[in-house]
Amino acid sequence: MTALLSCRGLTRTFGGLVALDALDVEVAEGWVLGLIGPNGSGKTTFFNVLTGLFPASAGQIRFENAEITDLKPQGVYRIGIARTFQRSRLCLPLSVFDNLMVGNHRNLNHGLWFNLVRRQALRRQVEENVAAARELLTIFHAPLAARLFEPAGGIPMIDRRRVEVCRALISRPKLLLLDEPSAGMTHEETLQLMDDILRVQRKLGLTIILIEHEMSVIERITSHCMVLNYGRKIAEGTYAQVSRNLLVRQAYLGLE
Ligand SMILES: Nc1ncnc2c1ncn2[C@@H]1O[C@H](COP(=O)(O)OP(=O)(O)OP(=O)(O)O)[C@@H](O)[C@H]1O
Ligand SMILES: [Mg+2]
Repeated sequence: MTALLSCRGLTRTFGGLVALDALDVEVAEGWVLGLIGPNGSGKTTFFNVLTGLFPASAGQIRFENAEITDLKPQGVYRIGIARTFQRSRLCLPLSVFDNLMVGNHRNLNHGLWFNLVRRQALRRQVEENVAAARELLTIFHAPLAARLFEPAGGIPMIDRRRVEVCRALISRPKLLLLDEPSAGMTHEETLQLMDDILRVQRKLGLTIILIEHEMSVIERITSHCMVLNYGRKIAEGTYAQVSRNLLVRQAYLGLE
């Protein structure tokens, strides 16, 4: 297996608390990796360390064979890793389009001089961005493309969640990190959202790491799973393999 992402001994402590404990992870291109584990087991911390929000206390992260352990969030984003957050971060009074553009730093870095003097170029750029946003929404969930200029606060919960995923995708990352995208949605909505995510994953050739509590979702859309408990990896494999694992059943599923 040639890994897209590979972590060795990745560790993060908060004072005396070991939130990530010497984690070894290999993720190959095209995987949908389900990251599961009880509350406080280090799942979000893993994303925060991967994306440079918190520096690692020890260990190494490699992405496409380059060491990225010490990159800042902007640098991580630039090499093609994007994420969503456990709590919604949409700006509700702004339009769907404006919310998407918040994720589009790569194409919005020209500064005041460019904006004032190169009016034609600026206009062209805005048009390109509108086209890109529309294209992405159309792939993800076509009816949303018609609501591009409506305030995010006026669209249903499930569409807001779609916008958050699209905001991460607007930079066309290779690796997408989703932190409980289904939180607060009904089972039916969750299944719809997951179908959309799977379709876009196939169409764009994405690799995904998905934190998710609902096991039926994990079973349905992941190719591989990794289970954390107290910051340690206690199992990995397919969903069928990890759900048979006794440690997992005790730690997470509350069985036996
Ligand atoms: N910024 C922080 N400062 C101090 N402790 C933290 C910080 N972030 C996380 N922790 C601690 O690290 C541990 C792992 O937290 P984390 O948020 O990664 O868990 P999680 O698996 O995402 O849980 P959940 O399923 O509830 O989202 C917890 O004990 C948490 O209290
Ligand atoms: Mg979390």
